Amino acid sequence: MELNRRTVIAGAAAAGIAATTLGGTAEAASGRKPVRKLFGTLADGTKVYRWSLENGGTRLKVLSYGGIVQSLELPDRHCRYANVVAGFDNVADYVAKSPYFGALIGRYGNRIGKGRFTLDGTAYQLSVNDGDNSLHGGAQGFDKHVWDVEPFVKGSDVGLHLHYTSVDGEMGYPGTLRTTVTYTLTRHGDWRIDYAATTDKATVVNLTSHVYWNLAGEGSGTIEDHELTIAASRYTPTDSGLIPTGELAGVAGTPFDFRHAKPVGRDIRAGHEQQVLAKGYDHNWVLDKGITARPEHVATLRDPRSGRTLKIATDQPGLQFYSGNFLDGTLTGTGGRTYRQGDALCLETQHFPDSPNHANFPSTVLRPGRTYRTSTLHTFGA
Ligand code: BGC
Repeated sequence: MELNRRTVIAGAAAAGIAATTLGGTAEAASGRKPVRKLFGTLADGTKVYRWSLENGGTRLKVLSYGGIVQSLELPDRHCRYANVVAGFDNVADYVAKSPYFGALIGRYGNRIGKGRFTLDGTAYQLSVNDGDNSLHGGAQGFDKHVWDVEPFVKGSDVGLHLHYTSVDGEMGYPGTLRTTVTYTLTRHGDWRIDYAATTDKATVVNLTSHVYWNLAGEGSGTIEDHELTIAASRYTPTDSGLIPTGELAGVAGTPFDFRHAKPVGRDIRAGHEQQVLAKGYDHNWVLDKGITARPEHVATLRDPRSGRTLKIATDQPGLQFYSGNFLDGTLTGTGGRTYRQGDALCLETQHFPDSPNHANFPSTVLRPGRTYRTSTLHTFGA
């Protein structure tokens, strides 16, 4: 039987498990206003704060730097908590060597080929930071800025509004982009992300969140035994620089078929040419539902050992599944253990990589007077 969050919490209460075991930490009590603590200081003296939120049995810690989800604690089927996201315990590591752990990604999630695109007849050159290409917004993406954070309690929800204004020309992108990202923890312990942005010149935008999941617990080893389902019959194959070729290829009969739950590791060594290029999975799945007015369920991740589950719903047309291929044993995580290849995975809801250079992909253009809006919902269970 799959227990949802309400069942677990109610069951714990019936079993007489104290609130401190399940919820109440010193930093944030369930459903109460988020609490702020100093986390560290940047080289220029800017203070970085860590906000603690707790609701419905989920505990979330968010940094003002990069909007980074530094910790997300969930109970397992026995109500034992673990932090299920990869991260660091200090600001310096986030600044110097983070592969986007937990960060907000902008202005453009994933790659733009050669960092170039043309919009309304004008050619733009972006910051190039991944070989010849621009990755996750360029050298100083949204993950490397301090955001203004505004906590809120609204009905039974708690959350944070994060604001960042990217000036015209930043990283080569046209237009002043005013972005607000809202993280909400619901009373059921679900985590919702609502993104909104406006511009004063035509531009392209594709925001996402770069959480690295390990539902057995950060630093506990491989995610190859996690079972994954992705509601997608096609994906976007890439060239050797991981730029989509423009083709929408069928997943049927390939290692890319996750339409039925399968352990991540089952076909990861199948030797498919696309896996060889990416060192595993690092691709955009073309979600069967397409762009939708509201978030719809697109992926489920389950750790059979702990019983923890994550369900993702989005209004976006794509999902980047990255199997942590470039984690190479050189980074030490929050719990003091080293991360190796496949020790965490990312599921990034998005528009397709390199869309500005592919007329057959859904458009990522944002024009003045319009508001970019997208939402992703994470539902947890055990
Ligand atoms: C990309 C990977 C990249 C990783 C960041 C993912 O979204 O698809 O290619 O290495 O982010 O380190």
